[in-house]
Formats: sequence, C-alpha cells, structure tokens
Amino acid sequence: MKPEPKQTSAFIQFVGLEKSFGEKKIYKGVDLAIEKGETLTVLGGSGTGKTVMLKMLLGLMHPDAGQIFFDGKDVVGMDKEAILQVRRRVGMLFQGGALFDSISVGENVAYPIREHFRHTEEEISRIVAEKLELVGLPGIEEMSCNDLSGGMKKRVSLARAIATNPEVILYDEPTTGLDPTNTRRIDNVIRDLQAKLAVTSIVVTHDIQSAFFISDRLALLYEGKIKFVGTENEVKNSDDPVVQGFIKGDMEDVETPKFSARVPRQTKVSKHATT
Ligand SMILES: Nc1ncnc2c1ncn2[C@@H]1O[C@H](COP(=O)(O)OP(=O)(O)OP(=O)(O)O)[C@@H](O)[C@H]1O
Ligand SMILES: [Mg+2]
Repeated sequence: MKPEPKQTSAFIQFVGLEKSFGEKKIYKGVDLAIEKGETLTVLGGSGTGKTVMLKMLLGLMHPDAGQIFFDGKDVVGMDKEAILQVRRRVGMLFQGGALFDSISVGENVAYPIREHFRHTEEEISRIVAEKLELVGLPGIEEMSCNDLSGGMKKRVSLARAIATNPEVILYDEPTTGLDPTNTRRIDNVIRDLQAKLAVTSIVVTHDIQSAFFISDRLALLYEGKIKFVGTENEVKNSDDPVVQGFIKGDMEDVETPKFSARVPRQTKVSKHATT
C-alpha cells in the first residue's frame, strides 16, 4: 500500500490530490510543498491541471481526494467563512486577467479591498493609486478596461491581485502572450514584491525564461503528478528526459520556451520595475 504523505511545516501543501473530470483523471496523487517566502513555479503542458491547482487552493474547486494545507489548516471541506479568511490572505492573478470590463480600472483594483476590508474612500483611492504606480501605470484609474492593451490588462490585474497586500500571491500565466518589454516589467514587479514584501508566491507558466528569472524552485506537473521539484540548477542538471524535454521545448503540447535571451539568476537581487 502507498504510504500516506505527511503534513510538513510548509506554509502551503498539496497532499495526495486526485481529481477527475468525467473520464479524464487529471491528478493521480499530486504532492507539493511551498515554503513561506519562496516563489515556486509550476510548469506543465496545457491541460495538465495547473490552473485547477490554484483554484483548489482558493476553494473554488475541490479535489476528489487529498488535502490542501494553508498555514496548517486543510482548505478542503472548509466552511464558507473559513475559506473567506484564506482568500483574504491570498491575491490571485487570473489567467487572462479576468478584469470587469464594465467598471473602471480604479474600481477593478479597489474591488478586493471593498470585498475584504472596511476602508474609507480616501484610503481606497490612496491604495489604488499606490498599486497602479507599482505596476508602472500611475494615474489611469478613470480609464475603461476596454481601452487597455493586453500588457496593460495584465498589469492592472496584477495591481488588483496585490491590492490587499496579500501574504500569498498566485500568478496564473502572468507573462504569457506579452511582448518582451511587458514580460520583463511583470517579472520585475514579481521579483520586487518578493524582495519588499516577502510574499509567498505560486506561479503557473509556460514561459521557462520567466520561470527561471522569478523562481526559487520549479515544479513540473506531468501525467497527474509532480514529476520533479528543484532549483533552477537542479532542473537544468536533471537527467530526467521529461524535465529536459520540457525545458528544451520538445514536448508537443508546450509553447517553445525562448531560451536565447535568458536572464542569469545572479541579476535577480537588485532588479526593479523601472522599465
Ligand atoms: N470545470 C471544469 N469542468 C471540466 N473540465 C475541466 C474544468 N476545469 C478544468 N477542466 C479540465 O481539467 C484539465 C486541466 O485544466 P487546467 O485549466 O488546470 O489546465 P492548465 O494546466 O491550466 O492548462 P493551460 O496551460 O492551457 O492553462 C483540462 O483538461 C480541462 O479541460
Ligand atoms: Mg491554465
């Protein structure tokens, strides 16, 4: 019999997750631990279940079996009030942005603040301005989301994800589809948040170059399990053909990683979002 994975002291931990949609079993025992303050990137082909992992952590979807510990408490089966407490501590950048097109940029960023806290209008305006500034888009509160470019939408979504100063930030494909300038800008904001606020982050991406730049560790989700977890060096030195295939872009269902302009890890520390 398979031994039961034990809960560790990790801040966030996925334990023995199983999930099927109809006939399709997407998780066959997913185990992954994320330490406080680290940035861990989950890599994996399209449809492997990366987004579902983030949604499960927020209690937006439920596993068929397994546990998900957030700061020592299992979110699976939590009641509504308890899950709200978790969500209050977590910011999420949804794949595709998920901005509300019918309200202004400022109101989008203000949304989670209004949802979770009781601040005065003056405080809310100040926080919104500060977050927009942080993502390099100062003063666009009154703009309609319909008028934003793809890169701006991602950055406004990021401002919204960090509006409540969350302890944990979940990024679902933060740079996919962006041009190199916007990719670098977003990557720098992510790095900056780690350095300044010591947040714990889980990033989901296809973009190996970004993943190496922003991550402390990387995990590969493959055929329903975490196939590999390790640092950038460990990933690069892995002799697992699946890991090598993934980072070299050989897998059929993965976007080809952009290797040529890879940023070395040493440059991480003092980078700031100034571009
Ligand atoms: N609500 C749902 N109902 C049915 N199937 C779903 C649902 N949500 C996700 N799936 C399926 O689960 C699988 C994993 O989906 P998920 O969105 O997590 O993939 P992903 O790894 O994020 O892919 P991508 O890189 O393309 O975003 C897919 O096959 C998807 O079709
Ligand atoms: Mg996804």
